[in-house]
Amino acid sequence: MTTIHVHALENEAYAVEIASALLREGMVVAIPTETVYGLAAIITNDDAIRRIFLAKGRPSDNPLIVHVATMADVASIAMVSALAQRLMDAFFPGALTLVLPKLSHVSDLVTAGLNTVAVRMPDLALTRAIIAAAGAPVAAPSANRSGRPSPTMAEHVIDDLDGAIAAVIDAGSCRDGLESTVVRIVDEQLFLLRPGNVRRDDIERAVGVRVRDVPATADLRHSPGTRYRHYAPAAQVVLVRSMEEAARMRDASHDRVLLLAPSDLAIGIPWRPLSSASLYAELRRADTLHVKKIIVHCDEQVQANEALMNRLQKAAEPSTEN
Ligand code: TXA
Ligand code: MG
Repeated sequence: MTTIHVHALENEAYAVEIASALLREGMVVAIPTETVYGLAAIITNDDAIRRIFLAKGRPSDNPLIVHVATMADVASIAMVSALAQRLMDAFFPGALTLVLPKLSHVSDLVTAGLNTVAVRMPDLALTRAIIAAAGAPVAAPSANRSGRPSPTMAEHVIDDLDGAIAAVIDAGSCRDGLESTVVRIVDEQLFLLRPGNVRRDDIERAVGVRVRDVPATADLRHSPGTRYRHYAPAAQVVLVRSMEEAARMRDASHDRVLLLAPSDLAIGIPWRPLSSASLYAELRRADTLHVKKIIVHCDEQVQANEALMNRLQKAAEPSTEN
């Protein structure tokens, strides 16, 4: 299959037309969102959904997020409680995914057989226009091959999936660069399954309900993503809190070292800026350059960013195959 590369910034209407036509035919299309690029297929076509798992090499028991264009779309696939409605009013469209009880017609392929469905309304107007023109919500995991960082540029999608998908709609770099916040609602209580740029305290302030962590004893089926090995770069990632610690790490290493930090610590090794928006691009770049060790300076501002710290800690975990 030849993957079509569509430059959406040059002609948005054309991008919407071609993406939605391919989706209606049951093809898989990589689409931009404000968080990361997603690998989209229409939820009313099981063959199309199967093509997502095939292209990504994703285990079929890891459910997908359904992306909608309108509030009415949410009610067409899930039960919307009073608290869910308040969260939607406050954060949709945006980088918040809600895990809600699903309606029975939603395909088990999308939800991996769970009785819940994850729903998100992207903030990027182009994404919503594509979904609306496709005529049905689309399931879309991040558009990377399993085991790679989420793509934040069309080039990342092409590196991972060229030839395996029908098209990539290129709208440049994603605004956020980290995947959405995922929250599950159970009996009008909120559980954080994945931190993202919609922060815990934003949610608590908006709806006046505490956002809890998933208890360690909880049935993991409620947060399936946590069972899978997360991306870690080929390089060893070490998190440090001070310039002194960074310098010690530099001295202990004889290999190719890179410093990722909010600002240059000027400790005599190559530096790249650290931010949520650019983290995944920097990790992909370090792999390409065969960097052996990435020293990440987590200053107080970075430490206060739950989503960024979560992804950094995952990247720093030794990668155990499973
Ligand atoms: O920002 C995002 O959320 C991006 C863009 C493309 O929208 N999508 C994304 O999808 O990150 P994915 O598939 O890479 O991550 C979805 C996460 C997984 O950890 C999955 O296990 C979890 O959401 N998830 C999906 N459905 C679920 C459900 N019914 N219950 C619990 N967790 C669910
Ligand atoms: Mg993903």
